[in-house]
Amino acid sequence: MKLPTSIWMVLFFVCEIFIIVLAGRDFYKILGVPKNANANQIKKAYRKLAKELHPDRNKDDPVAQEKFQDLGAAYEVLSDAEQRKVYDRAGEEGVAKMGGGGHGHDPFSSFFGDFGFFGGERGGHDDETPKGADIVVDLSASLEEVYNGNFVQTKRRKSVYKETSGSRKCNCRNEMRTQQLGAGRFQMFQVQVCDECPNVKLVSETKTLEIEIEVGADDGYEQRFAGEGEPHIEGEPGDLIFRLKVEKHKIYERRGLDLYTNVTISLQQALNGFTMTIPHLDGHVVEVTREKITWPGARIRKKDEGMPSLEDNNLKGQLYITFDVEFPRGELTAEQKAQVKELFKQDDHVAKPYNGLQGY
Ligand SMILES: *[C@@H]1O[C@H](CO)[C@@H](O)[C@H](O)[C@H]1NC(C)=O
Repeated sequence: MKLPTSIWMVLFFVCEIFIIVLAGRDFYKILGVPKNANANQIKKAYRKLAKELHPDRNKDDPVAQEKFQDLGAAYEVLSDAEQRKVYDRAGEEGVAKMGGGGHGHDPFSSFFGDFGFFGGERGGHDDETPKGADIVVDLSASLEEVYNGNFVQTKRRKSVYKETSGSRKCNCRNEMRTQQLGAGRFQMFQVQVCDECPNVKLVSETKTLEIEIEVGADDGYEQRFAGEGEPHIEGEPGDLIFRLKVEKHKIYERRGLDLYTNVTISLQQALNGFTMTIPHLDGHVVEVTREKITWPGARIRKKDEGMPSLEDNNLKGQLYITFDVEFPRGELTAEQKAQVKELFKQDDHVAKPYNGLQGY
Protein backbone atom coordinates (compact mmCIF):
# COMPACT_ATOMS: atom_id res chain seq x y z
CA MET A 1 0.00 0.00 0.00
CA LYS A 2 1.30 3.43 -0.88
CA LEU A 3 0.37 6.32 1.36
CA PRO A 4 -0.08 9.77 -0.14
CA THR A 5 2.67 12.25 0.71
CA SER A 6 0.41 14.38 2.85
CA ILE A 7 -0.20 11.50 5.25
CA TRP A 8 3.50 10.86 5.48
CA MET A 9 3.99 14.47 6.32
CA VAL A 10 1.41 14.33 9.07
CA LEU A 11 3.01 11.19 10.47
CA PHE A 12 6.40 12.79 10.34
CA PHE A 13 5.04 15.88 12.06
CA VAL A 14 3.43 13.83 14.82
CA CYS A 15 6.69 11.97 15.39
CA GLU A 16 8.60 15.19 15.53
CA ILE A 17 6.26 16.70 18.09
CA PHE A 18 6.61 13.52 20.09
CA ILE A 19 10.39 13.73 20.05
CA ILE A 20 10.36 17.39 21.02
CA VAL A 21 8.09 16.69 23.97
CA LEU A 22 10.33 13.87 25.12
CA ALA A 23 13.46 15.96 24.90
CA GLY A 24 11.96 19.04 26.52
CA ARG A 25 11.68 22.34 24.74
CA ASP A 26 14.54 23.80 22.76
CA PHE A 27 14.86 27.15 24.46
CA TYR A 28 17.51 28.39 22.04
CA LYS A 29 15.25 27.68 19.12
CA ILE A 30 12.31 29.33 20.83
CA LEU A 31 14.35 32.48 21.33
CA GLY A 32 15.98 32.12 17.92
CA VAL A 33 19.50 32.62 19.28
CA PRO A 34 22.65 30.52 18.77
CA LYS A 35 23.86 28.25 21.57
CA ASN A 36 26.73 30.61 22.33
CA ALA A 37 24.55 33.74 22.49
CA ASN A 38 25.58 36.26 25.13
CA ALA A 39 23.26 37.74 27.73
CA ASN A 40 22.52 40.81 25.66
CA GLN A 41 21.53 38.79 22.60
CA ILE A 42 19.18 36.72 24.73
CA LYS A 43 17.54 39.75 26.24
CA LYS A 44 17.19 41.40 22.88
CA ALA A 45 15.65 38.34 21.28
CA TYR A 46 13.27 37.89 24.18
CA ARG A 47 12.17 41.47 24.21
CA LYS A 48 11.50 41.44 20.48
CA LEU A 49 9.60 38.16 20.48
CA ALA A 50 7.61 39.04 23.59
CA LYS A 51 6.21 41.99 21.72
CA GLU A 52 5.41 39.94 18.64
CA LEU A 53 3.97 36.94 20.41
CA HIS A 54 2.03 38.67 23.14
CA PRO A 55 -1.45 37.10 23.35
CA ASP A 56 -3.09 40.52 23.35
CA ARG A 57 -1.68 40.96 19.90
CA ASN A 58 -2.49 37.50 18.62
CA LYS A 59 -6.10 37.02 19.60
CA ASP A 60 -6.74 34.91 16.49
CA ASP A 61 -4.01 32.41 17.27
CA PRO A 62 -5.40 29.59 19.44
CA VAL A 63 -1.94 28.67 20.72
CA ALA A 64 -0.77 32.22 21.33
CA GLN A 65 -0.85 31.71 25.09
CA GLU A 66 1.26 28.59 24.79
CA LYS A 67 3.83 30.22 22.56
CA PHE A 68 4.07 33.11 24.94
CA GLN A 69 4.56 30.80 27.89
CA ASP A 70 7.25 28.85 26.03
CA LEU A 71 9.02 32.11 25.37
CA GLY A 72 8.80 33.14 29.02
CA ALA A 73 10.13 29.76 30.14
CA ALA A 74 12.98 29.92 27.64
CA TYR A 75 13.94 33.40 28.79
CA GLU A 76 13.72 32.55 32.45
CA VAL A 77 16.15 29.68 32.08
CA LEU A 78 18.59 31.13 29.57
CA SER A 79 18.84 34.49 31.29
CA ASP A 80 20.00 32.81 34.49
CA ALA A 81 23.63 31.69 34.20
CA GLU A 82 23.18 28.80 36.68
CA GLN A 83 20.03 27.45 35.08
CA ARG A 84 21.45 27.87 31.63
CA LYS A 85 24.48 25.73 32.51
CA VAL A 86 22.23 22.96 33.81
CA TYR A 87 19.98 23.28 30.79
CA ASP A 88 22.89 22.97 28.37
CA ARG A 89 23.94 19.77 30.10
CA ALA A 90 20.68 18.13 31.08
CA GLY A 91 17.93 19.91 29.21
CA GLU A 92 14.65 21.18 30.60
CA GLU A 93 14.27 18.11 32.76
CA GLY A 94 17.57 18.89 34.47
CA VAL A 95 16.46 22.43 35.23
CA ALA A 96 13.17 21.18 36.64
CA LYS A 97 15.08 18.79 38.92
CA MET A 98 17.18 21.57 40.35
CA GLY A 99 13.92 23.22 41.20
CA GLY A 100 14.16 26.18 38.90
CA GLY A 101 12.81 27.53 35.80
CA GLY A 102 10.34 27.20 33.10
CA HIS A 103 7.18 27.67 35.07
CA GLY A 104 7.63 29.94 38.05
CA HIS A 105 6.83 33.60 38.35
CA ASP A 106 5.72 35.87 35.59
CA PRO A 107 8.94 37.29 34.15
CA PHE A 108 7.07 40.02 32.33
CA SER A 109 6.32 42.01 35.41
CA SER A 110 9.91 42.67 36.35
CA PHE A 111 11.61 42.72 33.00
CA PHE A 112 11.57 45.54 30.52
CA GLY A 113 8.40 47.07 31.83
CA ASP A 114 5.23 46.88 29.84
CA PHE A 115 5.10 46.59 26.15
CA GLY A 116 3.88 49.78 24.65
CA PHE A 117 0.68 48.44 23.18
CA PHE A 118 -0.75 47.63 26.61
CA GLY A 119 -0.90 51.26 27.41
CA GLY A 120 -4.44 52.17 26.52
CA GLU A 121 -6.10 49.07 27.86
CA ARG A 122 -4.62 49.15 31.29
CA GLY A 123 -6.39 51.41 33.70
CA GLY A 124 -9.36 51.53 31.39
CA HIS A 125 -10.51 48.12 32.47
CA ASP A 126 -11.61 48.99 35.95
CA ASP A 127 -12.12 52.61 36.79
CA GLU A 128 -13.54 51.76 40.20
CA THR A 129 -10.26 50.54 41.67
CA PRO A 130 -8.28 53.37 43.20
CA LYS A 131 -4.67 53.56 42.14
CA GLY A 132 -1.54 54.84 43.83
CA ALA A 133 0.43 57.63 42.21
CA ASP A 134 2.71 57.03 39.26
CA ILE A 135 6.38 57.72 39.80
CA VAL A 136 8.41 59.20 36.98
CA VAL A 137 12.17 58.76 37.09
CA ASP A 138 14.73 60.13 34.64
CA LEU A 139 16.88 57.49 33.04
CA SER A 140 20.14 58.85 31.75
CA ALA A 141 21.75 57.20 28.74
CA SER A 142 24.69 58.01 26.51
CA LEU A 143 24.30 58.48 22.78
CA GLU A 144 26.33 55.28 22.35
CA GLU A 145 23.76 53.37 24.39
CA VAL A 146 20.91 54.67 22.30
CA TYR A 147 22.75 53.91 19.07
CA ASN A 148 23.61 50.36 20.06
CA GLY A 149 20.87 49.54 22.52
CA ASN A 150 21.57 48.44 26.07
CA PHE A 151 20.05 46.86 29.11
CA VAL A 152 20.43 48.41 32.51
CA GLN A 153 19.43 47.00 35.83
CA THR A 154 18.14 49.12 38.62
CA LYS A 155 17.43 48.04 42.13
CA ARG A 156 14.23 49.47 43.38
CA ARG A 157 13.34 49.59 47.02
CA LYS A 158 9.71 50.11 47.46
CA SER A 159 7.09 49.87 50.12
CA VAL A 160 4.24 47.45 49.63
CA TYR A 161 1.20 46.75 51.74
CA LYS A 162 1.19 43.24 53.18
CA GLU A 163 -1.68 41.66 55.08
CA THR A 164 -1.20 41.33 58.78
CA SER A 165 -3.32 40.21 61.74
CA GLY A 166 -6.41 42.09 62.81
CA SER A 167 -8.73 44.17 60.73
CA ARG A 168 -9.23 47.76 59.79
CA LYS A 169 -12.10 49.88 58.55
CA CYS A 170 -12.11 50.30 54.81
CA ASN A 171 -14.19 51.41 51.83
CA CYS A 172 -15.79 54.03 54.02
CA ARG A 173 -18.56 56.11 52.49
CA ASN A 174 -21.27 58.43 53.68
CA GLU A 175 -24.88 57.28 53.66
CA MET A 176 -28.09 59.12 54.48
CA ARG A 177 -30.41 57.78 57.15
CA THR A 178 -33.88 59.01 57.99
CA GLN A 179 -35.34 58.82 61.46
CA GLN A 180 -38.83 59.51 62.66
CA LEU A 181 -38.75 61.91 65.58
CA GLY A 182 -42.42 62.12 66.33
CA ALA A 183 -45.77 62.41 64.62
CA GLY A 184 -45.05 63.82 61.19
CA ARG A 185 -41.52 64.79 62.01
CA PHE A 186 -38.55 63.23 60.31
CA GLN A 187 -34.92 63.95 60.46
CA MET A 188 -32.38 63.05 57.84
CA PHE A 189 -28.77 62.61 58.87
CA GLN A 190 -25.54 61.34 57.52
CA VAL A 191 -23.64 58.36 58.83
CA GLN A 192 -20.30 56.91 57.86
CA VAL A 193 -20.45 53.25 56.91
CA CYS A 194 -17.31 51.15 56.57
CA ASP A 195 -16.41 47.58 55.71
CA GLU A 196 -14.02 45.42 57.67
CA CYS A 197 -10.85 44.59 55.77
CA PRO A 198 -7.80 42.59 56.80
CA ASN A 199 -5.22 44.80 58.39
CA VAL A 200 -2.16 45.76 56.37
CA LYS A 201 1.30 47.04 57.12
CA LEU A 202 3.93 48.64 54.95
CA VAL A 203 6.84 46.36 54.16
CA SER A 204 9.98 47.33 52.31
CA GLU A 205 10.87 45.21 49.33
CA THR A 206 13.84 45.30 46.97
CA LYS A 207 13.33 44.33 43.41
CA THR A 208 15.61 44.33 40.41
CA LEU A 209 14.13 45.92 37.36
CA GLU A 210 15.58 45.37 33.96
CA ILE A 211 15.24 48.36 31.67
CA GLU A 212 15.92 48.28 28.00
CA ILE A 213 17.43 51.30 26.34
CA GLU A 214 15.98 50.73 22.94
CA VAL A 215 17.96 51.32 19.79
CA GLY A 216 16.97 54.69 18.39
CA ALA A 217 15.02 55.89 21.43
CA ASP A 218 15.09 59.62 22.05
CA ASP A 219 14.58 62.02 24.93
CA GLY A 220 11.26 61.50 26.63
CA TYR A 221 10.90 57.88 25.60
CA GLU A 222 9.10 56.09 28.42
CA GLN A 223 9.20 52.61 29.79
CA ARG A 224 6.46 51.77 32.22
CA PHE A 225 6.54 49.17 34.94
CA ALA A 226 2.97 48.50 35.94
CA GLY A 227 2.37 48.28 39.66
CA GLU A 228 5.82 49.46 40.70
CA GLY A 229 4.72 52.94 41.68
CA GLU A 230 3.27 54.27 44.93
CA PRO A 231 1.17 51.73 46.80
CA HIS A 232 -2.48 52.40 47.53
CA ILE A 233 -4.00 50.99 50.66
CA GLU A 234 -7.31 50.18 49.08
CA GLY A 235 -6.39 49.68 45.47
CA GLU A 236 -3.59 48.91 43.12
CA PRO A 237 -0.18 50.52 43.24
CA GLY A 238 0.63 53.10 40.58
CA ASP A 239 3.19 52.62 37.87
CA LEU A 240 6.88 53.34 37.77
CA ILE A 241 7.90 55.17 34.64
CA PHE A 242 11.43 55.59 33.39
CA ARG A 243 11.82 58.58 31.11
CA LEU A 244 14.85 58.60 28.86
CA LYS A 245 17.27 61.49 28.92
CA VAL A 246 20.09 61.24 26.42
CA GLU A 247 23.31 62.85 27.59
CA LYS A 248 25.19 65.39 25.51
CA HIS A 249 27.88 63.74 23.44
CA LYS A 250 31.45 64.87 23.00
CA ILE A 251 31.53 64.42 19.23
CA TYR A 252 28.03 64.11 17.92
CA GLU A 253 24.93 66.17 18.13
CA ARG A 254 21.64 64.50 17.33
CA ARG A 255 18.72 66.13 15.56
CA GLY A 256 16.00 63.63 14.90
CA LEU A 257 17.59 60.81 12.98
CA ASP A 258 20.55 62.88 11.82
CA LEU A 259 23.91 63.29 13.49
CA TYR A 260 26.12 66.36 13.24
CA THR A 261 29.78 66.79 13.94
CA ASN A 262 32.54 69.33 13.27
CA VAL A 263 36.04 68.63 12.04
CA THR A 264 38.94 71.06 11.77
CA ILE A 265 41.37 70.47 8.91
CA SER A 266 44.57 72.25 8.00
CA LEU A 267 44.76 74.72 5.13
CA GLN A 268 46.94 72.23 3.32
CA GLN A 269 44.26 69.53 3.64
CA ALA A 270 41.63 72.03 2.61
CA LEU A 271 43.49 72.74 -0.63
CA ASN A 272 45.01 69.39 -1.51
CA GLY A 273 42.26 67.07 -0.31
CA PHE A 274 42.53 64.46 2.41
CA THR A 275 41.43 61.10 3.76
CA MET A 276 40.45 60.77 7.39
CA THR A 277 38.45 58.47 9.63
CA ILE A 278 35.95 59.43 12.28
CA PRO A 279 35.03 56.96 15.01
CA HIS A 280 31.32 56.20 15.11
CA LEU A 281 29.14 55.37 18.10
CA ASP A 282 29.55 51.61 17.82
CA GLY A 283 33.28 51.76 17.13
CA HIS A 284 33.15 51.42 13.34
CA VAL A 285 34.95 54.14 11.45
CA VAL A 286 33.51 56.50 8.91
CA GLU A 287 35.95 57.25 6.13
CA VAL A 288 35.94 60.69 4.63
CA THR A 289 37.85 61.32 1.44
CA ARG A 290 37.96 64.55 -0.49
CA GLU A 291 39.88 65.50 -3.60
CA LYS A 292 38.29 68.89 -4.09
CA ILE A 293 39.02 72.06 -2.18
CA THR A 294 37.20 72.29 1.16
CA TRP A 295 36.25 75.76 2.35
CA PRO A 296 35.49 76.77 5.93
CA GLY A 297 31.89 75.87 6.69
CA ALA A 298 31.70 73.26 3.91
CA ARG A 299 29.44 70.40 4.89
CA ILE A 300 29.45 66.87 3.58
CA ARG A 301 26.81 64.24 4.10
CA LYS A 302 27.38 60.58 4.82
CA LYS A 303 24.32 58.57 3.98
CA ASP A 304 23.01 56.07 6.54
CA GLU A 305 25.56 57.06 9.15
CA GLY A 306 22.99 58.79 11.35
CA MET A 307 20.88 57.34 14.16
CA PRO A 308 18.83 54.20 13.65
CA SER A 309 15.09 54.70 13.73
CA LEU A 310 13.23 53.40 16.77
CA GLU A 311 10.53 51.84 14.62
CA ASP A 312 12.87 50.22 12.15
CA ASN A 313 16.46 49.84 13.27
CA ASN A 314 17.63 49.24 9.73
CA LEU A 315 16.53 52.68 8.75
CA LYS A 316 19.21 55.25 9.54
CA GLY A 317 19.52 59.01 9.26
CA GLN A 318 22.46 60.94 7.79
CA LEU A 319 25.70 62.12 9.27
CA TYR A 320 26.63 65.73 8.47
CA ILE A 321 30.24 66.77 8.87
CA THR A 322 31.00 70.48 8.88
CA PHE A 323 34.58 71.54 8.23
CA ASP A 324 36.53 74.31 9.75
CA VAL A 325 39.89 75.25 8.28
CA GLU A 326 42.85 76.11 10.42
CA PHE A 327 45.03 78.66 8.71
CA PRO A 328 48.78 78.82 9.37
CA ARG A 329 50.06 81.91 11.19
CA GLY A 330 53.02 84.09 10.29
CA GLU A 331 53.95 85.52 6.92
CA LEU A 332 54.96 84.09 3.57
CA THR A 333 58.13 85.26 1.82
CA ALA A 334 57.82 87.48 -1.24
CA GLU A 335 58.65 84.48 -3.42
CA GLN A 336 55.96 82.32 -1.79
CA LYS A 337 53.42 85.09 -2.17
CA ALA A 338 54.17 85.21 -5.86
CA GLN A 339 53.75 81.45 -6.06
CA VAL A 340 50.37 81.57 -4.38
CA LYS A 341 49.25 84.29 -6.71
CA GLU A 342 50.40 82.27 -9.67
CA LEU A 343 48.66 79.19 -8.32
CA PHE A 344 45.18 80.56 -7.72
CA LYS A 345 45.01 83.41 -10.16
CA GLN A 346 42.20 84.96 -8.12
CA ASP A 347 41.17 88.55 -8.68
CA ASP A 348 41.64 90.73 -5.66
CA HIS A 349 38.31 91.60 -4.13
CA VAL A 350 37.32 95.20 -3.89
CA ALA A 351 36.20 95.93 -0.35
CA LYS A 352 32.48 95.27 -0.12
CA PRO A 353 31.73 95.52 3.56
CA TYR A 354 28.51 93.89 4.69
CA ASN A 355 26.72 93.38 7.93
CA GLY A 356 24.72 90.27 7.21
CA LEU A 357 21.65 92.24 6.22
CA GLN A 358 22.39 92.17 2.52
CA GLY A 359 19.31 92.46 0.39
CA TYR A 360 17.47 94.72 2.81
C1 LIG B 1 29.74 72.56 15.50
O1 LIG B 1 30.09 73.92 15.50
C2 LIG B 1 29.00 74.81 15.58
C3 LIG B 1 29.54 76.21 15.40
O2 LIG B 1 30.61 76.46 16.26
C4 LIG B 1 28.31 74.61 16.91
O3 LIG B 1 27.18 75.45 17.00
C5 LIG B 1 27.87 73.15 17.00
O4 LIG B 1 27.29 72.91 18.27
C6 LIG B 1 29.04 72.21 16.79
N1 LIG B 1 28.54 70.86 16.76
C7 LIG B 1 29.00 69.89 17.55
C8 LIG B 1 28.43 68.54 17.36
O5 LIG B 1 29.84 70.11 18.40
